[in-house]
Amino acid sequence: MTDDNLIRAADWLRLAERVCVLTGAGVSAESGVPTFRASDGLWEGHRIEDVASPEGFERDPGLVWNFYNARRANVKTVKPNPGHYALAKLEERWGDRFTLVTQNVDGLHRAAGSKNILEIHGSLHRTRCLCCAKVEDRGLEPLGEAPECPHCHGQLRPDIVWFGEALPNDIWEPALVAAHECDVLLVVGTSAVVHPAASLIPVAKGRKQPAAKVVEINLTPTEASRHADVGLYGPSGQVLPKLVERLG
Ligand code: OAD
Repeated sequence: MTDDNLIRAADWLRLAERVCVLTGAGVSAESGVPTFRASDGLWEGHRIEDVASPEGFERDPGLVWNFYNARRANVKTVKPNPGHYALAKLEERWGDRFTLVTQNVDGLHRAAGSKNILEIHGSLHRTRCLCCAKVEDRGLEPLGEAPECPHCHGQLRPDIVWFGEALPNDIWEPALVAAHECDVLLVVGTSAVVHPAASLIPVAKGRKQPAAKVVEINLTPTEASRHADVGLYGPSGQVLPKLVERLG
């Protein structure tokens, strides 16, 4: 990462009326949460389609719950890193004109103090009842292999968006608006290969003139790089605090 690029990014931010951030697994990597595409298509030794699809859940809900209970237990042991805190700090400057769209389900942005968060892929903290559709925050305690809804005794599933499922409209619509209206979009720690999440990047670039400035923060260039006006390459836990510092 060059100082020039950092200065350019900070200058754009200083002038921005609205800011949107899209984060992915990389922002939590320094907290000890594994990313997805570093693991040969396997999650904790499972095929993704077995543990992250409605069909997989129908076939073997116990396996899926064991997998998510393990992920919940892991997240219980981790803490936000300086990248999460830097984003919470940025939000203080713009208030409700700052939107944090995250693909992460680990809850670390909230733990770091971010408020205006759109969790477009759901949350490990929440369950959804397949019978009465109630969504509830159940924290991170283990829920067993066949948790039941406390209200109607229906079957519970993790409130996570699985492969082949649509994103919840009430979360996705405001994410689209935030990307469309922002002056700067920060794209942090995502491979930008999963859609529709990654399509927020061309949405920000394709809006009214002047298009939003896109700043990519990642260890390496990604699918997002061709849309990026500047890339700040390095660990987000180091780059984001530097950006906040430079912003002043
Ligand atoms: P990926 O695992 O695809 O990508 C993680 C990205 O983070 C890569 O581009 C890494 O280079 C980058 N990275 C790793 N460590 C970093 C660090 N310390 N600082 C900055 N960048 C770092 O994860 P996502 O893009 O989040 O969906 O994956 C998107 C979706 O795919 C996930 O939300 C999940 C998965 O299927 C669902 O569960 C629905």
